[in-house]
Amino acid sequence: MGERKATARAHPNIALIKYWGNLNHEQRLPANTSLSITLGDLETRTMVFFDDRLKADEIFIDGAPASETASQRVQTHLDRIRRIADIETRASVDSKSTFPSGAGIASSASAFAALTLAAVVACDLQLDPRELSRLARQGSGSASRSMFGGFVVWHAGETDAESYAESIAGKNHWPLVDLIAIVDASHKTVGSSQGHRLAETSPLQNARLADAPRRLAICLQAIMQRDFSALATIVEQDSNMMHAVMMTSNPALLYWSPATIELMKTVTRLRSEGLSICYSIDAGPNVHCICTPEHADAALEELRHVPGVLDVLASRSGDGAEIIET
Ligand code: PMV
Repeated sequence: MGERKATARAHPNIALIKYWGNLNHEQRLPANTSLSITLGDLETRTMVFFDDRLKADEIFIDGAPASETASQRVQTHLDRIRRIADIETRASVDSKSTFPSGAGIASSASAFAALTLAAVVACDLQLDPRELSRLARQGSGSASRSMFGGFVVWHAGETDAESYAESIAGKNHWPLVDLIAIVDASHKTVGSSQGHRLAETSPLQNARLADAPRRLAICLQAIMQRDFSALATIVEQDSNMMHAVMMTSNPALLYWSPATIELMKTVTRLRSEGLSICYSIDAGPNVHCICTPEHADAALEELRHVPGVLDVLASRSGDGAEIIET
């Protein structure tokens, strides 16, 4: 194929209704439908260069050669795309995130969304957004949602064809702000791929899954009606239920640190004092504090002063993955 190059950018996302546990681990078919906001002010840019002269894939992440594990995961994903395109050509991949790599924010959603789009375009494949989302999902589940902007639902589905994401409201529908309070800059010890496998060992996971359609319906309605109070209640309950599953799996996963709990209490207090703010926590100790734009400055000031907070990143809702150079 000679030389083919494309660069894409994609943003991470914060799930309001979380994905935790799979029906099928190999294909990353999730155990429940999830819903997220795409975070437009944080981004990963990935360049994929297919070159016949390369003997092996070369993967660089944030300016340095990728670790063996990361490199293997990227190569497996490139193999999926090479199979569809029916090519053997090796690629050089250069991926950079604009948010601090040590911030403890999972970059796999934005990274696999950007990698998928750049590699597909570089191979000259014509895939529609739904097919791109399904493909990104196989690299990292939450990457299926980062293909789209605004508020995004990832339909769990029971087969590869049924498990894809779509945008249900654009970024301007309700311009919420995510204030990400960083309390630990190190990488997590148990990553989400491993965590999804442990979910089914918790006796609470079945109850969490059985109640998921109710939480999703309430969350969807709160978004459509821009009802912050309803949103706050369901988002915090959903996050707490996922962490209850994590803490009761075998072996148990406890992602929180003392500062995480301080932040949860602070957010609850701020809401009782009249601020429209709620928390949501992923597979790590950092706390996503979601608020309305008019309360963002006051909330930021408070969060900065919570003991143990190293930094607070702010992001508004943003667009889906896009090609920036070919
Ligand atoms: O896409 P993964 O395998 O990194 O899993 C994401 C898991 C959570 O961030 C904890 C929840 C979610 O829905 O994003």
